[in-house]
Amino acid sequence: MKIGIIGSGNMGRSLGILWAEQGHQVFFGARTAEKGQAVAALAGRGTQGGTNDSAAVFGDVLLYSARGVDPSEVLASTEVLTGKILIDPNNSNIPAGFAYEPIVKSLAETLAEQVPNAIVVKAFNTMGQEVFELAPEPLKEHQVSVFVASDDAKAKQTVMQLAEEIGFVAIDSGGLRNARLIEEMADFVRFLAIGQLQNFYTTLSVKVLPAAEQIRLGGRQTSNLA
Ligand SMILES: NC(=O)c1ccc[n+]([C@@H]2O[C@H](COP(=O)([O-])OP(=O)(O)OC[C@H]3O[C@@H](n4cnc5c(N)ncnc54)[C@H](OP(=O)(O)O)[C@@H]3O)[C@@H](O)[C@H]2O)c1
Repeated sequence: MKIGIIGSGNMGRSLGILWAEQGHQVFFGARTAEKGQAVAALAGRGTQGGTNDSAAVFGDVLLYSARGVDPSEVLASTEVLTGKILIDPNNSNIPAGFAYEPIVKSLAETLAEQVPNAIVVKAFNTMGQEVFELAPEPLKEHQVSVFVASDDAKAKQTVMQLAEEIGFVAIDSGGLRNARLIEEMADFVRFLAIGQLQNFYTTLSVKVLPAAEQIRLGGRQTSNLA
């Protein structure tokens, strides 16, 4: 797969290296060609580097890690994004005291409105860069969830595969509207990791438990609650 990284900071660099290790062709983009090339030099494995525009042209799948910046400010033309998968790993700023406002529209939905010609997929925002340092081994043994949401089923499958390849368990999290839930989850993870536990190796994962062998509490009764 040809993957372009738009914004090769902590997230872009880490995910780009992991995908290059899996044999994908990766192009690291940055605001200056020199920065993109420097990240590619660090990454090795035949990766390339240059401007964000060049990364956007190169990739069929793009990681968009320039938080809160409209693609029209990052790219000379957003036409280049037409039909491409745009992975959104972004989270909002952490407010003082972790007093987050409720999310009424997610960053991913905003991105999709800004570039309706692209196929936006929310993923990779519920764990810190440190967790990626564990990938793919020993990460695999910890069964860490990556929540993936998109209105395009095929694009979602592609991103789920990219998550699985680097050692995560991909969780189909429905349509892009659910990015609201996923971004709220990431806000909670950051409260735990930074505020409460002070450990950046903190994340949240789904566990589906085996059914109880014996129903001794009366089981689930009919209820009027939704
Ligand atoms: N780091 C984590 O642990 C983590 C975990 C989960 C999610 N996230 C989310 O991932 C996103 C990226 O985080 P990060 O840690 O990778 O941040 P970072 O290391 O600070 O990198 C940010 C990237 O955004 C680019 N950028 C910033 N402003 C820009 C602008 N006006 N135009 C073009 N590019 C711009 C920077 O480009 P240049 O290199 O050209 O300056 C840089 O590559 C954030 O939304 C963050 O919330 C981060």
